[in-house]
Amino acid sequence: MAPTPTPSGFCKGLTFSLFFIHVIASPPFACDQSNPSTSSFKFCTTSLSINERVWDLISHLTLEEKVSQLVNTAPAISRLGIPSYQWWSESLHGVSNIGPGIRFNGTIRSATSFPQVILTASSFNREIWYQIGQAAGKEARAIYNAGQANGLTFWAPNINIFRDPRWGRGQETPGEDPTVTGKYAVAYVRGLQGDSIDGSRGPTVRLRASACCKHLTAYDLDKWEGTTRYTFNAAVSSQDLADTYQPPFQRCVEEGHASGIMCAYNRVNGVPNCADYDLLTKTARSRWGFYGYITSDCDAVGIIHDSQSYAATPEDAVGDVLRAGMDVNCGSYMQQHTMSAIQQGKAKESDVNRALHHLFSIRIRLGLFDGNPTKLPDGNIGPNIVCSNEHQYLALQAAREGIVLLKNSPKVLPLSKNAIKSFAVIGPNANNPQTLLGNYAGPPCNILSPLQALQRYVKHTQFAHGCDLVACTSEALIDEAVNVARAADHVVLVMGLDQSQEREELDRVSLSLPGHQERLITMVSQAAKKPVVLVLLCGGPVDVSFAKRNSKIGAMVWAGYPGEAGGTALAEIIFGEHNPGGKLPMTWYPEEFTKIPMTNMRMRPDLNSGYPGRTYRFYRGREVFRYGHGLSYSTYSYEFLSPAITPLYLNLSLYRDPSLSNQDSEHLIYDIDQLGSEACDQVQFSTTVRVRNSGQMDGQHVVLLFSRPPVVSNDAPKRQLVDFKSVYLKAGEMREVHFELRPCEHFAGTLEDGRRVFEGGPHYLMVGNVERLVILVA
Ligand SMILES: *[C@@H]1O[C@H](CO)[C@@H](O)[C@H](O)[C@H]1NC(C)=O
Ligand SMILES: *[C@@H]1O[C@H](CO)[C@@H](O)[C@H](O)[C@H]1NC(C)=O
Repeated sequence: MAPTPTPSGFCKGLTFSLFFIHVIASPPFACDQSNPSTSSFKFCTTSLSINERVWDLISHLTLEEKVSQLVNTAPAISRLGIPSYQWWSESLHGVSNIGPGIRFNGTIRSATSFPQVILTASSFNREIWYQIGQAAGKEARAIYNAGQANGLTFWAPNINIFRDPRWGRGQETPGEDPTVTGKYAVAYVRGLQGDSIDGSRGPTVRLRASACCKHLTAYDLDKWEGTTRYTFNAAVSSQDLADTYQPPFQRCVEEGHASGIMCAYNRVNGVPNCADYDLLTKTARSRWGFYGYITSDCDAVGIIHDSQSYAATPEDAVGDVLRAGMDVNCGSYMQQHTMSAIQQGKAKESDVNRALHHLFSIRIRLGLFDGNPTKLPDGNIGPNIVCSNEHQYLALQAAREGIVLLKNSPKVLPLSKNAIKSFAVIGPNANNPQTLLGNYAGPPCNILSPLQALQRYVKHTQFAHGCDLVACTSEALIDEAVNVARAADHVVLVMGLDQSQEREELDRVSLSLPGHQERLITMVSQAAKKPVVLVLLCGGPVDVSFAKRNSKIGAMVWAGYPGEAGGTALAEIIFGEHNPGGKLPMTWYPEEFTKIPMTNMRMRPDLNSGYPGRTYRFYRGREVFRYGHGLSYSTYSYEFLSPAITPLYLNLSLYRDPSLSNQDSEHLIYDIDQLGSEACDQVQFSTTVRVRNSGQMDGQHVVLLFSRPPVVSNDAPKRQLVDFKSVYLKAGEMREVHFELRPCEHFAGTLEDGRRVFEGGPHYLMVGNVERLVILVA
């Protein structure tokens, strides 16, 4: 609606007095109704389409103004009443001030800090994933409404596949499985952007906050040996791209309707991601229907010339990324070189206009061109929602459901607090609250270290560091720890990694625990009266084969980086107030895996060269703990309720690729793209699994449904997670869990050229150790 012009004399006095209140408490916005000289622009007219508004806005801009907007710190255009905008904010596991868009220096001083994503993933609970996204979106809006933000575009989720256990940023991802990663992305994006959990709002026009699927694509190496992400050229096969690296991004866009994408630093098969027209425009925009904005990773445009020497001059780099479909540059490179690129004919103003169209569409969808946003639907989200009880409880629940019980024999856990007179807590990770948060965290609402949380159960608790730091380069503190352990009824060791060992720009070179940690653990467990409990805080997996074997180490718990409530959740699990049910979202490899260069992107094994392949889908070597591993204080059993063999008749008039078919009618191969979604929908079916909690304790339980092909080949995954559900079961309770399956999605394989297909004939579904044969008959 166009604002009604008001007589200026009266209005000015009023605006002036309001202005003072605004400076403190108001968020930045364009199209201020109280300023008729700017609010009368057509681009401020909310009844017009976004498209019309954006083109009108662009028509007012000079070329200099246009160029100025192509960077993350977009300056104000005061003559049009447009404030500055910060594209870079972070919300990986809660709103963070790592990006410059968010400031915790006003009324709001902290935000709910959820578990680091790798641990949230291990709950396999889509509702929790959605709720976390939603909580972060609401907190973000509250921070904006309070005038402590100058952007609402968040550069999360990180949905690169955790391809190699050494990756320093594996902690930020939902793990190594493309299906889980894609579903995590969808849930988080829908939550953050203000969509419903089932996506029923569809392609949301209005955004509460904007999410960004990053980093497109095949980025999962930071700094390993001599290789950095800035220059790494990932050699990726069409097959691996199609069924490992791309599916999370495709889902994030198609089902999540994410409004942002970030292109990654690295090159893929020679081409820098941000300069890849096939990737950004043909694949993301045309094939997946992406209609948001594309940002570069920070300084990822400059490196195309400076470090990768892919572009001969800065202007060529700018021309390349604009032509490819990138819209905004984190950094200042585009501000510096776009004008000269246009003058030299290396970039076109029409590409700049396209970029601006994408950028301003997002700002309008965020409601920042509709007058004072505090009067709009999300304008009533106040500061009280930040760190609300509900959000803090969600952080606790996510940590509880994520934490994984790796080992528990002979039923060392749970401990009984009443039976313990003296208790020892040992380890460099026991009393450092910051470690619980992982990277990309903001200041938490409330936090207790594991030691502080455990002390609430047993008054008489002795603490020993055991190692000065997580790196544990000195043995000087081991004796003291051994003495503390010897005197206690029970011992909990809190060990593992922290950001000094794995982080952005730091991949590991070993999977062993750092320094003398193993020695400390072994000596403490030797001295202790009873088998000890070993808690591991780490994002990436560690080779703890020694502890798995050692009967003096009775229980092992993996807690990722469990967030602000993680200490509490850990203590609840150790003392049996919560029954653990998390499952590992990544394979735990033995140290010998590090013989493989991290730079080898190949997923599939190559038995000729002894290359074992990667992730549970392809890896052929020994595992320390397998994907999906996770114990409970209860036991669960499964049964398929449908008959052991279920033939599924396919309609033969559906398309099939004659060049693929081997003529045997049971083994017809169908090209999924050629079939199309309508035909694919004709051949869906459902399967039901009965799950029974046959133990003594109620618990949340994750049912993981895998498929496997009848014949193991190097080309196809050994197993592939098809779907998963998290259900709550009381002791003794039985529940039926239904799965809807579409052969086009759930029995799909990939040809070498990247084509997705499914094959008629036998397939197996598996839950735990139970299998069911499904025969797809043509
Ligand atoms: C918070 O920080 C921003 C950016 O540094 C600054 O502009 C603003 O004045 C600060 N606010 C307060 C209340 O200190
Ligand atoms: C087979 O598929 C075709 C094309 O979709 C459709 O017209 C036909 O009715 C189907 N036949 C059966 C038996 O379902």
